[in-house]
Amino acid sequence: MRSKKKNTGNEDHPKSTRVILYTGKGGVGKTSVAASTAIICAETGFNTLVVSTDAAHSLSDAFGVDIGSEIMEIGENLYGQEISVTEAISHHWENLKNYLTALFSSQGLDPISSEEIATLPGFEEASELLYVNDYVKSKKYDVIIMDSAPTGESLKLLSFPEAMSWYMEKMFPISRTTAKIFRPVVKPFTNIPLPDDSIFSSMEGLYKSLRDVKNILTDNDVTSIRLVTTPDRMSLNETKRAFTYLLLYGYPIDAVIVNKIYQQDTGPFFKKWRNTQSEIIKEMEDAFHDVKMFRANLSETEPNGIDNLRELGHHIYGNENPLRIFTRNIPIKYSKTPGGYRVKLRLPFATKERMRLYNKGGELVIELDNWRRVFYLPQTMASKQPVSAEFNNGFLNIDLR
Ligand SMILES: Nc1ncnc2c1ncn2[C@@H]1O[C@H](COP(=O)(O)OP(=O)(O)OP(=O)(O)O)[C@@H](O)[C@H]1O
Ligand SMILES: [Mg+2]
Repeated sequence: MRSKKKNTGNEDHPKSTRVILYTGKGGVGKTSVAASTAIICAETGFNTLVVSTDAAHSLSDAFGVDIGSEIMEIGENLYGQEISVTEAISHHWENLKNYLTALFSSQGLDPISSEEIATLPGFEEASELLYVNDYVKSKKYDVIIMDSAPTGESLKLLSFPEAMSWYMEKMFPISRTTAKIFRPVVKPFTNIPLPDDSIFSSMEGLYKSLRDVKNILTDNDVTSIRLVTTPDRMSLNETKRAFTYLLLYGYPIDAVIVNKIYQQDTGPFFKKWRNTQSEIIKEMEDAFHDVKMFRANLSETEPNGIDNLRELGHHIYGNENPLRIFTRNIPIKYSKTPGGYRVKLRLPFATKERMRLYNKGGELVIELDNWRRVFYLPQTMASKQPVSAEFNNGFLNIDLR
């Protein structure tokens, strides 16, 4: 079936562009699964764009087609892009970078280090995400499939919009409701160069785009994060951690894909491996009981090229439509308790020992391992301090008084 489907919007295919992002431990099969999903979607008739945000691109290798840094047509309804970070940065960041460079030099930092500071960590991630923002807004595609870097890098990518918005709000007075940056009325008595209006408006635009990207990627109806894993202990542990961190940032995870499962006829040498895999898969079913799980066997050869990838795609999704939203997120809940308030959020596999909680100027900060999320507390709760935190059935309950 190669005809173009009319996008009328239903359970199987919501009206807006869908974003499906694959992440997971290194080498588990993210690129192969992303590419195979893209083929299935395109051949079903959905206009499909598959983008790689992994600096070590391998989409081209998977498809056996040279995909460049510009969007190119791979087949009918199927487009691909391997994002070039340098191009992305110059595309989105030139104005802000110039301003920051000017700002930092005015503070006595020499031009070389200012230049370096201007290339703030995270700029790469952000400029990649801004592409996604553009593509979703353009409404050109029914689905954007993202093949991203191994977990740690992807988490950096996904935690960036939040971190950057936070910094921008601290650095520049921004009205949260209108996303307007207020230009200081009186020129301050410092030698900080005040950026001219065009820079102000480009910063405003940037801030708004970052908010939009965050809204897109945390919107259950638009985005699905799918964790690819293999049935071994290290992948299981990494998947659990990624699952927790992603939920901390409010990202909608709708499926886990267990890849490279040994089949029964792999001979006596692999018997022990098969047993171990079965045990780990059972543990995975238990750990991720509230998200959809897909399974894929290790194939006899590398699933490269359109035909092999199509086969892998059908093997994973069977009769399911990959665009379907398989699981919905449970959003953070604020409620009143006798004498205080409660914040409840889904946060499985986390422990108290790995966590720090505090209220800083009306912002509830949750630190888990190396990740930090700031929640703006509703006005009524803004002055309350967290007094206790308990885990219950995969939820974290924080009491504020
Ligand atoms: N189901 C499968 N059966 C057999 N080989 C597979 C399967 N899935 C992936 N592979 C192979 O495993 C290797 C790694 O796959 P892939 O590049 O898709 O993983 P990745 O998670 O994207 O890796 P990276 O972390 O390097 O981006 C490739 O050689 C790929 O062909
Ligand atoms: Mg890859």
